[in-house]
Amino acid sequence: MTSDRTLTIVKPDAFARGLAGQIIGHLERAGFRIASARVLHLSDAEAGAFYAVHRERPFYGSLVAFMTSGPCMPLVLTRADAVATLRQVIGATDPKEAAPGTVRKLFAESKERNAIHASDSDDNAAREERFFFSETELLRAL
Ligand code: CMP
Repeated sequence: MTSDRTLTIVKPDAFARGLAGQIIGHLERAGFRIASARVLHLSDAEAGAFYAVHRERPFYGSLVAFMTSGPCMPLVLTRADAVATLRQVIGATDPKEAAPGTVRKLFAESKERNAIHASDSDDNAAREERFFFSETELLRAL
């Protein structure tokens, strides 16, 4: 059975360009509801830890610099089949390859400055929720 929850992050490029509200509206129109949300400015250590799986990739340093360049907004979202549906709604990592109407096609600048992150599995969604939100906040959000 798939989970009805996932984690997304509206990234610093979207914040800098004043697109956060439009992106969240797009997600709500796709049937997602906001269970938890916060605005924060990641430290180097936090961004590095969140993207630790990419530590050996050539873009890791640049990705951490980008993710610490300004505020971002993690949200816990709910709807049926949340992880797979959100991945479809946001589109491919590179906006040039993203399908028409997806968040990244509409709002992203490049493969790195790609407006939004979404968890890629139920296990990672649960881990990423706990990265940003306390146990108490997640209990309240149920
Ligand atoms: P995200 O879905 O948050 O997961 C990892 C992030 O790394 C990705 O979005 C992009 O922001 C970034 N990324 C992935 N591949 C590349 C790449 N080839 N060059 C630069 N950044 C990348």
